[in-house]
Amino acid sequence: MTGNLAALLYLASSVCFILALRGLSSPESARRGNLLGIFGMALAIGTTVATPGMISLPWIAAATLIGGAIGTVIALKIQMTALPQLVAAFHSLVGAAAVLVAAAAYYNPEALGIGARDHIHTSSLIEMAIGTAIGAVTFTGSVVAFAKLQGLVSGAPLVFRGQHLVNALLGAATIAVCIWLVVDQQPCAFWALVGLSLTLGLLLIVPIGGADMPVVVSMLNSYSGWAASGIGFTLHNNLLIITGALVGSSGAILSYIMCKAMNRSIFNVIFGGFGGETAAAGGAKQEQRPVKTGNADDAAFIMKNASSVIIVPGYGMAVAQAQHALREMADMLKKNGVKVRYAIHPVAGRMPGHMNVLLAEANVPYDDVAELEEINRDFAMTDVAYVIGANDITNPAARSDPKSPIFGMPVLDVEKAKTVLFVKRSLASGYAGIDNELFYRDNTMMLLGDAKKVTEDLLKAL
Ligand code: TAP
Repeated sequence: MTGNLAALLYLASSVCFILALRGLSSPESARRGNLLGIFGMALAIGTTVATPGMISLPWIAAATLIGGAIGTVIALKIQMTALPQLVAAFHSLVGAAAVLVAAAAYYNPEALGIGARDHIHTSSLIEMAIGTAIGAVTFTGSVVAFAKLQGLVSGAPLVFRGQHLVNALLGAATIAVCIWLVVDQQPCAFWALVGLSLTLGLLLIVPIGGADMPVVVSMLNSYSGWAASGIGFTLHNNLLIITGALVGSSGAILSYIMCKAMNRSIFNVIFGGFGGETAAAGGAKQEQRPVKTGNADDAAFIMKNASSVIIVPGYGMAVAQAQHALREMADMLKKNGVKVRYAIHPVAGRMPGHMNVLLAEANVPYDDVAELEEINRDFAMTDVAYVIGANDITNPAARSDPKSPIFGMPVLDVEKAKTVLFVKRSLASGYAGIDNELFYRDNTMMLLGDAKKVTEDLLKAL
């Protein structure tokens, strides 16, 4: 294959990746986006393998087969709720790959045309140093994120006195060693850079609490993209540069959106809980006030007399896998002339797009699903808000209590509906560990039980 043809095919792959990202921005086009991404990646790998001078085809074939088989088994087996830690684990591999490619380039620069041992081009050394540093930070950071999300270590923030000073010193030392490597090209400078960056990645992530972990995973996703981009410069591979930059920038944008939706400062997350923000997980003091409870028949009576219903799904719906029963219930209501829509909070569940994925799996029509900003005003004109397994995303403390850990987070105004039906197993708190005052309101009826069971009973009663 000629260099020009390879460049053209790489360009086509890049366009596929850009269109894939575009497709992933909406559930309706996400499948097409995924297919385009797969096609772009197949084209990229095919082009690389067909490049003249590719001398290790059996190794590539063996690695592709083994890696592909492991990836397929994991993808088939993984539980929806375990996706965040899986993503973290995969990012650690990208970080490790960046460091290993940099090491290979450092010890065998002739093979890549970036100079000779001890005489590597300065520009290549700069790229290599940046790629190595970001890759190593991504590696240990992702391993810690995986361990926290998987419950292998405590999800609580691990803070110690002088932590920020230590991190700042480590950051400064990393930059200094990068300069040393570029100027001196010594192996000890290369490995010192790897060691310092690995330590920095570890220390940046340990102070971050469980609630902020998904934002961290998205940040690490961004870092892994920049690391890949850096390595693309070392390898003179335009496609890797473009793909890395796409991953880096989209990860950074997603982190920003998530921080905004959770009312977190992105700088606190990047610099390891700088302002001392911690996740409040579990253990809320539960109020001893009377609540109105009901059963499936009561709820069916209210639903039948409603002309509009907004369903608010949350983490409990995912746990109970109630999405199919929920869609059947919505279909039944629609058949009876009730207007039914779904309101999605940006951080409902435990990962971005969690609810959208589950509703899409249950074939809920995309037109019935609305984001917070689109639908929030409509609660005031709605008869019933059916809150299924959601809690924090409806909690008015986010608006009214400056001391609340979720203060400032936008919430769904479910209490403005004529009746709020809360489906959950108890009066226990949600992720933020705080009581929800809505349970005790006059227009609330608690339907206590498993989300799937309650919805199935309600469907029968309807
Ligand atoms: P939560 O506030 O966590 O509330 C979920 C509720 O579901 C719980 O109160 C629980 O109450 C109930 N539940 C659990 N299992 C259930 C089951 N089988 N049947 C019925 N109910 C069940 O969830 P949310 O409202 O979706 O809010 C998300 C929270 O997670 C926010 O605080 C957000 O900041 C945080 N967070 C989100 C993300 C992303 S990216 N989505 C990432 C990290 C953190 P019972 O125990 O009484 O049943």
